[in-house]
Amino acid sequence: MSKPIPDQRRRLPITLAVRTNLLAPTAWGYELWRARALSQLSGRRFPLSEEFTRMIEAMQPVQGGVFLDLGTSTGLYARALLEAGAAKVYGLDLSPAMLREAVRRSRGFEGFSPLLARAEAIPLPADSLDGVVVGGSWNEFYDPAAVVKEMQRTLKPGGRVWIMFTHRSGSRLQRVLERTGLRFPTLEELTALLERHEFRVRGWHEKSVGFVAGTMVSLGE
Ligand SMILES: C[S@@+](CC[C@H](N)C(=O)[O-])C[C@H]1O[C@@H](n2cnc3c(N)ncnc32)[C@H](O)[C@@H]1O
Repeated sequence: MSKPIPDQRRRLPITLAVRTNLLAPTAWGYELWRARALSQLSGRRFPLSEEFTRMIEAMQPVQGGVFLDLGTSTGLYARALLEAGAAKVYGLDLSPAMLREAVRRSRGFEGFSPLLARAEAIPLPADSLDGVVVGGSWNEFYDPAAVVKEMQRTLKPGGRVWIMFTHRSGSRLQRVLERTGLRFPTLEELTALLERHEFRVRGWHEKSVGFVAGTMVSLGE
């Protein structure tokens, strides 16, 4: 039996969209859906291996580094980073069910450390991370501006960032989903938010799948 994960979540509302992640069946089935998600969003064959390659490139150097997978769910990005040589990857999520699944799936990977917490209040010291990765969770964060501030606080100067998100399409479906608490930023909106917090980033999108990669620079650099 694995040890219980200490609860470090700060009180913030939980939207309807996020509530579904608290259910054990969502956690069990999550990776089946996730393997097909970018193909559906981009309209072309987009395997996880391609996404991981790009994410790992954006995090270089990975070897021996300390990373945070924000909104990790079942720990997909965390495992990819550990396989690429990261020394430690914190997998943060507000869902105990998702984290239990992440712990189960990361057995055999040294260095996975689950954090039951909110992305808006990261329970890690300042200047402690080489990189932060976010795979799809950005659309669910309750307060994205607070999350960026926390990324800025916890990253070392020169720390790397990678965000995969669902880009605004203006579709009827997205408008309905927004009522459950999801947000669909444009690349320009997300880039502008990051740039206000010392990040220098580049981004692109393929239909509804968006990516942002870059680094945090200290003022005066
Ligand atoms: C779409 S899943 C993304 C999973 C994973 N990053 C990936 O690449 O597949 C979103 C995850 O973010 C978590 N989440 C949503 N809002 C959060 C918040 N404010 N703080 C921490 N986790 C959050 C949810 O519980 C869920 O597990």
